[in-house]
Parts: sequence; C-alpha cells; structure tokens
Amino acid sequence: MVDIIEKKRDGEILSKEEISFFIEQYTNGSIPDYQVSALLMAIYFEGMTAEEQGFLTMAMVESGDQIDLSPIEGIKVDKHSTGGVGDTTTLILAPLVAACGVPVAKMSGRGLGHTGGTLDKLEAIEGFHIELTQEQFVRQVNDLKLAVIGQSGNLTPADKKLYALRDVTSTVDSIPLIASSIMSKKIAAGADAIVLDVKTGDGAFMKSIKDAEALAKSMVAIGQEVGRNTMAVISDMSQPLGFAIGNALEVKEAIETLKGEGPEDLTELCLVLGSKMIVAGGKAETLEEARAQLQQVIQDGSALRLFGEMVEVQGGNREMIENPSLLPAAKYQIEVQAQEDGYITQMEADEIGIAAMLLGAGRATKEDKIDLAVGIMLKKKIGDRVMKGEPLAVIHSNTENVDKSKELIMKHIHISPEKVEKPSLIHEMIT
Ligand code: URA
Ligand code: CA
Repeated sequence: MVDIIEKKRDGEILSKEEISFFIEQYTNGSIPDYQVSALLMAIYFEGMTAEEQGFLTMAMVESGDQIDLSPIEGIKVDKHSTGGVGDTTTLILAPLVAACGVPVAKMSGRGLGHTGGTLDKLEAIEGFHIELTQEQFVRQVNDLKLAVIGQSGNLTPADKKLYALRDVTSTVDSIPLIASSIMSKKIAAGADAIVLDVKTGDGAFMKSIKDAEALAKSMVAIGQEVGRNTMAVISDMSQPLGFAIGNALEVKEAIETLKGEGPEDLTELCLVLGSKMIVAGGKAETLEEARAQLQQVIQDGSALRLFGEMVEVQGGNREMIENPSLLPAAKYQIEVQAQEDGYITQMEADEIGIAAMLLGAGRATKEDKIDLAVGIMLKKKIGDRVMKGEPLAVIHSNTENVDKSKELIMKHIHISPEKVEKPSLIHEMIT
C-alpha cells in the first residue's frame, strides 16, 4: 500500500492490479483508513486517467453484489441525475420511455437533503411497495416494461466505505472519485447503457458549467472504458426545476407532465433525456425520431396509463393517479407575495430547497421523517414579470407558522427593475 500511495503521490499511473488490490483490501478491512486517506488525497491532487477511473469503477462494482438484468429482454438503459431541487424527472421519464418500448428496471434512492428522493415521492401514493424480490422485479419489467424499486442487496460496499472516508478527509470534490463513485453504482445495478443528467448552478453539486462538463466527460469516458454506452446532458439548476418542490406536489406535477400539461422546463428536460434513452435503447435511430415517439405516448395517454399500471401492480392506489386531488394534501396554503414590482432575476435553488426542507419535505438527518404532503409551489420563474403583492410562491404546510421558510423564499427570489433572459435549460450534450 505504501508503494501505491507513493506512486500516486509522484503523479504516476496506477495499474489495474494496484487499484483492485487497494479496493479489495480496504473493503475487507485489511488496509487502514489512514493509508487510504493518503491515497485519496494523492488522487485529489494528481487525478486519474480515464483508464484508471475505469479500473477503479469496476473494482468498486466487484466489491459487492451485482444485479443481473440479463433475463430482461432488450437493452436496459438507466438514467442518473446528479441531483437538484424539485427534480421530478424519474417519475416522468420511467413511464415515458417504457411506453416507447425501452425496458426500465429502475432502482432508486431516498433523498438526503432538500426534498425526498424518487422512493419518497412514490410513497406519497398510498400502498405503493418499493420492495420486490429480484424475481418479481424481472418478471414485472418483462410484463410491463417498467418497475421502480428501492435498492436491494449489498451494492458497491467499497463506494460506501470510501465515500464516508472522503467526507471526513476533504476529498469528496475530486472529479475522478465522484465519476467512478456514480458510475460504479449504475453498473452494479445492471445498466447496459447510461444517460446522465449533470446539473449545474446554484442548486447543484457542480456549481459551474466548467466543473459539470469535466464530471460529465469523466463519466462518459469511464463508460467507454468499461463497455457501457454512456452519454451526458448538462442541464440548468440555477432555479428549481418545474414549479413543485415537495413529494406529493411533485407526484402531481409528474402526472400533469405525463398528460402534456406540465411545466415547460421539466417537460423539455424529460424529452431531451428520454430521446437519448430511446436511442440508447435501440428503439429509434435519431433523437428527432425518438422525440416524436415520446410526444406520441404523451398525446395518446399511454405513458400515463402505464404509470397507473405500475402503481397498481406494485400495490399502490391507482385512483390517486387518475385523480391527483386524492394525494396527501397539506392543511394550510400560505402565499408568499412579491414586495415590489419588477422581474425575477434569480431564484437560489439551494435556499428554496432548504425552505422546503424546513416545512418537512426533506430530511436534515437520515432519521428525519418526511411529511409527504408539504412543500412549495412556485408561481414565477426567472425572467417573469411580477407586480407587488402578486404571489411568488405558495407554501403548503401542516403548521401555520412558516415564517422561516417564507423569509428564505422572499430573500432568495430576487426581483429587479431590469428584465433578464430565461436561463437556457440545456447547456451542453456530451456523447
Ligand atoms: N454522488 C455520488 O454518488 N458519489 C460522489 O462521490 C459524489 C456524489
Ligand atoms: Ca419540480
């Protein structure tokens, strides 16, 4: 291990054997944290080649269970978002793409942070089960083309252990380490092809476009190294996506979007990512052709129907999909009004996410319980005109005192006399 640390410290390239050695021995407890900390810091400063990142990714994949999706017919395309505020895309994309014939065998997570993850949102639907056996999962995807479940098995234990160590050694912000961490989880979950949504802006992990681009390029290169068709879209998170932030509110927004009545930005992002998934899944030759298929399954209602079918098969109350007013609703709806006339110039997504979390829409610690009904409905987006007294947002809360959230929203939605352009939604595509 000392030789491996020294080699990376001196800017040399590690071999496959060296990388596998340290991952295996660290996972089984034979190498102490302090040596791995030193290696992580050396990687932080010296970086890793695409080939090294590929070796690291596969070593982490092999450190635990791998989901075998081979009994599912077709190319299994997974999607991953690096996370943002009010990002409801999985709930929309999964049925949308499945309705076009691409099998979606999705394992999702819970959220730690501003709002719930996909699983939390799905649990806003009464009775919905996120636990299926491997057999049930495969059977459901073969029958229906669609299943969304929680993670089962012991996937990428090396990543879990490394991530915890990075967290306390200031080595999280290393592009090769982030890229291999994300890719290892997708590959262990059985993806043949991976479409990445790398967010940039205030509400994102990668604040600058330059960093988002570097991360996207690293992940696409890893995909190439390890033989998984991988592509990335860099999308805007300088303001929350769509209007809804909060679990049941986002389920409602997803249903509206599946009907073709969703917010413009959320709809467009789903069409862009969905088109890539359909081409990767071999169901269309071009992005234009794929987009037309997606628009078709929105218009003819088949994507929404499939979402309802999945809910029913997984034990959920399908009526809630047909009639979203049955979803959990908060007791109070409290308007946040503009204090002046002008244009919205900035909506700090991360701060608005915190406002939603304070209402109970997200978790501050792993143990916190989410209130599925609460959240924020934005009434304006960047570039919109607003008059004094008009609502900027509506807070959905189960308590009357929402002063803190209200204050955060007012403070972080900026209004100015000069109009600004809407931020562009898609900054770049990397294939
Ligand atoms: N998300 C991950 O899954 N891994 C990282 O290293 C950083 C963000
Ligand atoms: Ca949203």
